[in-house]
Amino acid sequence: MKYFIGNWKMFGIPKSINILNKINSFSSRDKNRNRYRVIITPPYTLLESFSKNFKNKRIIIGSQNCYQKDKFSSNTAAISSYMIKKTGAKYTLIGHSDNRLEGDTDTILKDKVKLALENNLKVVFCIGENKLQKKKKQTFSVLKKQLKKVLEKKLNKNNIIVAYEPIWSIGTGKIPNQKDLSKTVYFIKHILKNIFKKKSPEVLYGGSVDENNVKMFKQIKEIDGFLIGGASKSSKKFIDIIKNYYR
Ligand code: PGA
Repeated sequence: MKYFIGNWKMFGIPKSINILNKINSFSSRDKNRNRYRVIITPPYTLLESFSKNFKNKRIIIGSQNCYQKDKFSSNTAAISSYMIKKTGAKYTLIGHSDNRLEGDTDTILKDKVKLALENNLKVVFCIGENKLQKKKKQTFSVLKKQLKKVLEKKLNKNNIIVAYEPIWSIGTGKIPNQKDLSKTVYFIKHILKNIFKKKSPEVLYGGSVDENNVKMFKQIKEIDGFLIGGASKSSKKFIDIIKNYYR
């Protein structure tokens, strides 16, 4: 199964549902529809209405983050996995570099993953090196640490997907070369197999994916799908990414 996940970040108001209606109607008729899943992560404000709207439809709604405490607590503006699950959302991103930069540590991320899984949300766990780490050739050691500090064998790997998003690639138009990326995704799967002692969870790529470069990514067999930021705010671009992937 392949994944096309659209991460809206701080974008979207109720009428933005028009974008998703178009993606949904394309994907419901697409001859390749059984080969992939479409997940969109709008901001918290839209989780409930979008989840209701797309219940039993092609588009699956997910959250962009969740808080590291469960149920209800006295943390202003925090939203727990329990609250997310009750909106009808099925997935949550955890560990996006935006949130790591704002203070999410490995310990916090570990709590978030645990609570999300306990609340029956599927987790898309994001990892990635920054520009300096890449320059210093620390990519593999950074990724290994990010995975090993948070994921462990006792977690249900069937509800975990890993998204590799090099920070230097997010929103910059820069993408890794095919050879490097292929090696990196292979390495991530190797570490994951080691952690879970069996088959690796799916590994996605994210960072400046668009309707043109998706053909290059397709050549890399290890990649199980994409986490798409900028291009997911346009129904045309998002649909073209899927179309071009299967062309
Ligand atoms: P981008 O964002 O596609 O705009 O680079 C990806 C992400 O941050 O998930």
